[in-house]
Amino acid sequence: MSCPLRLTLTRRYRFSASHRLHSRRFSEEQNRQLYGKCSNPHGHGHNYVVEVTVGGPVDPATGMIANLGELDPFVAREVIEAFDQKYLNEEIPEFQDVVPTTENLCREIYRRLKPFPAARLERVRIEETSNNSFEYAG
Ligand code: NI
Repeated sequence: MSCPLRLTLTRRYRFSASHRLHSRRFSEEQNRQLYGKCSNPHGHGHNYVVEVTVGGPVDPATGMIANLGELDPFVAREVIEAFDQKYLNEEIPEFQDVVPTTENLCREIYRRLKPFPAARLERVRIEETSNNSFEYAG
């Protein structure tokens, strides 16, 4: 019996949100030293680009790993609608006590997308700026 053909599919999504890098574990001065201007009390925004990679066998009938008609609304509901135009520190419950660095954002988005029923989540990659990107593969 031949092995099913396994491939990955990567889809890009975008949202904009603001955050402040600030930990309650540290004093104001320590936060300033650690995070610099990213600890500015009024926060700052990013246009995040999120790459979602799913993998699995190619369905011989459809020729696809997963239908974008299923992936797009799932990502829209679980991530884009939840995060777009939000102040991550205050409007996302998971970041009440966790600093919303893009590392932590990557983990949180992975956690929200992991239950996608139609294919296996392989990786979440976030571009915070044109110079920084972060990846989490579980
Ligand atoms: Ni930032």
